[in-house]
Amino acid sequence: MSEYGNVDNKKRRFLIGATTAVGGIGAAAAAVPFAMSFWPSERAKAAGAPVEQDISKLEPGQQIKVEWRGKVVWIINRTPAMLATLPKLDDKVADPKSDVDHQPPYAKNEDRSRKPEIFVAVGICTHLGCSPTFRPEVAPADLGPDWLGGFFCPCHQSKFDLAGRVYKGVPAPTNLIIPPYRFVTDTTIVIGEDEIKKA
Ligand code: FES
Repeated sequence: MSEYGNVDNKKRRFLIGATTAVGGIGAAAAAVPFAMSFWPSERAKAAGAPVEQDISKLEPGQQIKVEWRGKVVWIINRTPAMLATLPKLDDKVADPKSDVDHQPPYAKNEDRSRKPEIFVAVGICTHLGCSPTFRPEVAPADLGPDWLGGFFCPCHQSKFDLAGRVYKGVPAPTNLIIPPYRFVTDTTIVIGEDEIKKA
């Protein structure tokens, strides 16, 4: 046996390692264009391509904003306490069962959502298009002791509850719009498409 046997083996191992590393770089480089092409381009997004959003880091009580078709879409992780406010407001909101506005069927339930805790809505006031403010706090001084959390539009003082249901007697005529959306996984949402066939 050659006394350089170990050296040869080391050299062989080095060559195998180098080949693997080069192969790995090549595979990574090849994967990048594929991964990039998965995401819609800016032009496609503006034209209405669906937008995928990871919500794994969205804590209870938090809101994030996503852009879809040039509009802001809110995603809010509602706490059990927030959800518990909704039935208490049924007689204060104009359309408690979402009978008036034609929106996805999954917006026609108590929470106006596919999963009770995750609320998805277009963040545009149904009066004249301002952007309401997320006001989850209970009874803040400016909104009064009856406020249980919701959305407040600063333009003409429309109020919506935490399911986007419009209060009676405010300028906004209908509940906030729920866009089409679906869950790809428990923690990934696609805004802009669902599995429901349009008539
Ligand atoms: S635009 Fe919101 S109340 Fe008028």
